[in-house]
Amino acid sequence: MGFVEIKIRNYEEQIDRARVEDLERRCEVGPAEHVFLFTDTMGDPICRIRNSPMYNMLVAELENELVGVIQGSIKLVTIHKPPKDQARVGYILGLRVSPLHRRKGIGSSLVHHLEGWFISKHVDYAYMATEKENEASVKLFVDKLGFVKFRTPAILVYPVLNNRSFHLSSNIEIKELKIEQAEFLYRKFMGSTEFFPHDIDKVLKNKLSLGTFVAFPRGESCGEFGLDGQVPSSWAMLSVWNSGELFKLRIGKAPLSCFLYAKSSRLIDRLFPCFKVPALPDFFKPFGFYFMYGVHHEGPSSGKLVRTLCRFVHTKMATKSKDCKVVVTEVGGCDSLKLHIPHWKLLSCPEDLWCIKGLKNENHEEKNTLLHELTKTPPTRALFVDPREV
Ligand SMILES: CC(C)(COP(=O)(O)OP(=O)(O)OC[C@H]1O[C@@H](n2cnc3c(N)ncnc32)[C@H](O)[C@@H]1OP(=O)(O)O)[C@@H](O)C(=O)NCCC(=O)NCCS
Repeated sequence: MGFVEIKIRNYEEQIDRARVEDLERRCEVGPAEHVFLFTDTMGDPICRIRNSPMYNMLVAELENELVGVIQGSIKLVTIHKPPKDQARVGYILGLRVSPLHRRKGIGSSLVHHLEGWFISKHVDYAYMATEKENEASVKLFVDKLGFVKFRTPAILVYPVLNNRSFHLSSNIEIKELKIEQAEFLYRKFMGSTEFFPHDIDKVLKNKLSLGTFVAFPRGESCGEFGLDGQVPSSWAMLSVWNSGELFKLRIGKAPLSCFLYAKSSRLIDRLFPCFKVPALPDFFKPFGFYFMYGVHHEGPSSGKLVRTLCRFVHTKMATKSKDCKVVVTEVGGCDSLKLHIPHWKLLSCPEDLWCIKGLKNENHEEKNTLLHELTKTPPTRALFVDPREV
């Protein structure tokens, strides 16, 4: 395919807002046969990056028609690359090209321009996440643009079932932490986790962060929880982010199995309420979700504590919200956490694909050594998934 004359410039709210929203509506994310998630940014196309310390959105125009868009955000995170353990990373998201103008080089050109902006802001690495089956996206980033496959965390989803609440064990105590306490614990216990954001305090203070909770065996008293250097023998911690305040999701083309389940279970519910078959929420209308982030656990019985915390979020928080229809979390590839986090396989994604690329102007050999360091670390390692990038 030949390349066409396209103009790439910064997003301007007044002239681009409606056009970007329209483009988003026309773009399915993922492989045509079964991907079905649409994003509704509710009049604010920049909402997914607005909470990051530094961000930018670019648009592509072809003869005054808006044909493509891309977003990027920059922050400082923990990355184990000797001699330093931190790096400035640029996250690429929201790449969309109008279906009528694909395979004309517009997607690649948008990524190149964004990389240029990253380089001007001294970013060490650019990274992005995509569905493993999104062939267009994987081919574009890996085959064409030199990104390297890096991690495959799992996205775990649990539907909010209003007619079902979990039983919370009375042997387990759950406590909400003050923000300063949460920050202290995160820096102490998760500070060396890959992609841990150095501005965790900003994340926790954000109004979308609904709170940080710890669970521990009842009776293991711990006055200042961690602040005085003491933690129980087993404990777990997580925070909750209200993503539905920013944007909504909607299912377009659902897999048949999911659609049938929704239909039949509602029917069964209506006909035989005593069966207590959980009715799936209506995913065909825009819905919000809670994202559980910073999930950490320590000690022999901490798996059970993680499970209890997740059940607490579902029962005491999500079911109380009008808009929240699923609770989502994302954990490192083979992280044992997966075993303890309640989720439905039908709605979850076992392998989200993260790809990374070095941007610094080191010589070729240096660049390869650093990338080798990054990609050789076991993919099973824990990963901090920033709620601002969901
Ligand atoms: C992914 C997407 C942005 C690509 O945009 P694009 O403008 O068509 O990409 P380009 O023309 O720059 O393609 C560059 C290369 O990527 C690869 N590629 C792009 N689309 C592809 C497809 N459908 N199948 C296979 N390879 C593809 C090819 O190697 C292509 O080079 P070639 O045309 O010389 O063979 C576009 O398909 C899109 O908007 N998809 C829906 C949204 C989405 O999935 N976004 C990615 C989320 S991370």
